[in-house]
Amino acid sequence: KTILTVVGARPQFIKAAVVSKALAEKGIKEEIVHTGQHYDHEMSSIFWEELDLPAPTVNLEVGSGHHGAQTGIMLQKIEQYILESDQAPEALLVYGDTNSTLAGALVASKLHIPVIHIEAGLRSFNREMPEETNRVLTDHMSTLLFCSSKEGVTQLAKEGIKKNVFDVGDVMYDALLTFSKIAEEKVNFSDIIPYAPNNFYLATVHRPANTDSENNLRSILQAFSELKAPVVWPVHPRNKKKLSMIQVPENLHLIEPVSYFKMMTLLKNCTKVITDSGGLQKEAYWMKKPCITIREETEWTETLDGYWNQITGANTDKILSAIDTNPTSDWKPLYGTGEAAKKIAAHIKDYFS
Ligand code: UD1
Repeated sequence: KTILTVVGARPQFIKAAVVSKALAEKGIKEEIVHTGQHYDHEMSSIFWEELDLPAPTVNLEVGSGHHGAQTGIMLQKIEQYILESDQAPEALLVYGDTNSTLAGALVASKLHIPVIHIEAGLRSFNREMPEETNRVLTDHMSTLLFCSSKEGVTQLAKEGIKKNVFDVGDVMYDALLTFSKIAEEKVNFSDIIPYAPNNFYLATVHRPANTDSENNLRSILQAFSELKAPVVWPVHPRNKKKLSMIQVPENLHLIEPVSYFKMMTLLKNCTKVITDSGGLQKEAYWMKKPCITIREETEWTETLDGYWNQITGANTDKILSAIDTNPTSDWKPLYGTGEAAKKIAAHIKDYFS
């Protein structure tokens, strides 16, 4: 019997790259379904090629849409795929908090297939984020739950989920340790942007709370315009149109979405990170780069210690004052030791044998 993994969005391809390898090393058979939530080359296939991810058995080509429609089509197509397979999978594995995560978990739950959730127990406590609903529901449908830190385990216990919950560390740390070395060999920093190392800010902004609100976007751009160094921003496709319609500051350097190797290279060479992404907050921390999180809250609260990460929302003054504040404590390891994928594979093997 096989484990059926459902992925669909950019960060899930990165996580799957390390977990799939660990599963294979344990002799666990895996089949990957790509929902097609992300479909542009820069958002999808570039990661599969670069990270040498086993090709998906199928791409359901669900594409973009409103949340209900997008999730609904996924439900229908994932269910159909499983029902038409020769044999039901042993378990269905999902990552994180996207619509692909929720759809995969819900189909499995209805078909009485155990759900494995990686990055379980994470909460922003902001129910306006679609991701928060996806996380809570997925956790409550899961049989095996893997958390990135002990905070996740504590949170799940508060919600009554205590069985088969494991703090294994974060698989994105595994990915960063594995791939940043390869990135160093394969990518030339000067081929990506024309600036000197350690003399630019790396920014990513794609949360609807920031990009769908003209006020917030303007306020963020205002902060960027007052910075004394270039701001490099790989633009998520959802924001391209918006940005082409408004005037952007001169020191803002917009680039196409970049591959994981290129992102690691940018991260390694930047001075600070300004982002509303979840994953990038952790990656900044692991690379010892101070992070300014332009959201009202973070799920990764451990990174806030000693001002390594600061929450500013979209407020111009808060962003600027956070830029001027440097970390006050020594860096310490967070979210595991880079062996999360190995531990996950071992638990899965134990549970299903
Ligand atoms: C999704 C996840 C979010 C994750 C992020 C990572 C949900 C609810 N959100 O948000 O948790 O952090 O992915 O990137 O699942 N688009 C393209 N090309 C693509 C992909 C998207 O043009 O390849 C555009 C479409 O116009 C689409 C919009 O981006 O409407 C948003 O896409 P969506 O699938 O909702 O995901 P993200 O916003 O990326």
